Amino acid sequence: AKNVGILAMDIYFPPTCVQQEAMEVHDGASKGKYTIGLGQDCMAFCTEVEDVISMSLTVVSSLLEKYGIDAKQIGRLEVGSETVIDKSKSIKTFLMPLFEACGNTDIEGVDSTNACYGGTAALFNCVNWVESSSWDGRYGLVVCTDSAVYAEGPARPTGGAAAIALLIGPDAPMVFESKFRGSHMSHVYDFYKPNLASEYPVVDGKLSQTCYLMALDSCYKQFCHKYEKFEGKQFSLSDADYVVFHSPYNKLVQKSFSRLFFNDCLRNASSVDEVAKEKLAPFSSLSGDESYQSRDLEKASQQVAKPMYDVKVQPTTLIPKQVGNMYTASLYAAFASLINNKHSSLDGNRVILFSYGSGLSATMFSLKFNGGKHPFSLSNIAAIMNVDKKLKSRHEIAPEKFVETLKLMEHRYGAKDFVTSKDCSLLAPGTYYLTEVDSMYRRFYAKK
Ligand code: ACO
Repeated sequence: AKNVGILAMDIYFPPTCVQQEAMEVHDGASKGKYTIGLGQDCMAFCTEVEDVISMSLTVVSSLLEKYGIDAKQIGRLEVGSETVIDKSKSIKTFLMPLFEACGNTDIEGVDSTNACYGGTAALFNCVNWVESSSWDGRYGLVVCTDSAVYAEGPARPTGGAAAIALLIGPDAPMVFESKFRGSHMSHVYDFYKPNLASEYPVVDGKLSQTCYLMALDSCYKQFCHKYEKFEGKQFSLSDADYVVFHSPYNKLVQKSFSRLFFNDCLRNASSVDEVAKEKLAPFSSLSGDESYQSRDLEKASQQVAKPMYDVKVQPTTLIPKQVGNMYTASLYAAFASLINNKHSSLDGNRVILFSYGSGLSATMFSLKFNGGKHPFSLSNIAAIMNVDKKLKSRHEIAPEKFVETLKLMEHRYGAKDFVTSKDCSLLAPGTYYLTEVDSMYRRFYAKK
């Protein structure tokens, strides 16, 4: 198959959210810590009637229906998630009723897990399948679904929740440049979930920030190396129209882009002008370790990279700022923001994406926009995702109620023998929701 890539996408996030400004007051944090310090506006969360399974049921059924895809046309279904509901039974199997209904049980793929990276692993599996000799001519479908919740403390405002579905096939409007992947994988304890009785991670916040930036440097180096090997010329940020990052919170995305800019400066790349070079020159002798700790470098590089950030990154930040960290879905929600904002002008553009999952695994990869015929045109994809309307029709919940909900969910996690309130009044029609977990831990869902 040729020009393999993303044909269509849809996104779902819970309609319940809490304003970061209200969270600052509630938590007794200094004013601006979450909104300016972390760069976040709002955070979505699941109430007791939603979870990663219901969100993925919602987004998959919505994608199939809105693009008019027959469920028989799906030959591979891969789920990326780090929200463990069952240690054996995959989330993918919970989605099978959508396909069994029309008699399609011939669908490869199960779940992929490594923190926020599972969605990218699932995506690569689907892309590789369509490009391989085992491809049977049908579509691949990737689902990234997560509910990011943290224990009370500094990490809690970096939660979020969403599910994204990506339809994979040939002759796509978004084509992978698969030759240019650069990865970095390593054994670290920056963020992990060793306590199987709790949904909350153990997180070393500062270490996770440094690991993210180190992985970014390493992936960029590999990526540039591969580009140069195949294209015979140096890669720089000027060769990317947009850069999309995994977005735990927006401040880290700002720092990441300026870090790439600093890399370009050290490589003497064409993207860095003389003025910027001069400003960053004093930092060129820092060791790797020193450069991750230097506040002066952070400030100086953010300042000189700002004009380029505004053009190449800012259009990708809408959903992550409004919904929060969606773990596996976060990178693809940033990508969806770009389509939402720029769908009419993306043709021919190249986008660089950076996927990071703690623990850790990371990849930088590339795709190009390439027209697209109805229903797989960018304008139709933007219309179907309908991001602005979904954001606007949300319900703001008070921080006290948010905290109360998380407390209830702590008891419900891993529990059996309960029914939910079945209150789906805040959910849009077509949304799936959890009704019951029986005495055998079997989960039951209904569609509004
Ligand atoms: N006004 C403006 N800015 C402020 C204010 C204020 N009133 N108060 C603090 N800030 C700034 C700080 O200067 C800091 O910015 P800087 O990094 O540019 O210096 C920022 O707000 C955050 O403040 P910190 O004191 O560093 O925050 P804290 O240590 O309490 O928590 C952290 C931040 C570590 C990110 C925490 O939220 C966390 O652990 N999150 C989860 C881990 C995470 O997301 N890691 C990212 C990669 S791994 C993953 O994706 C899960």
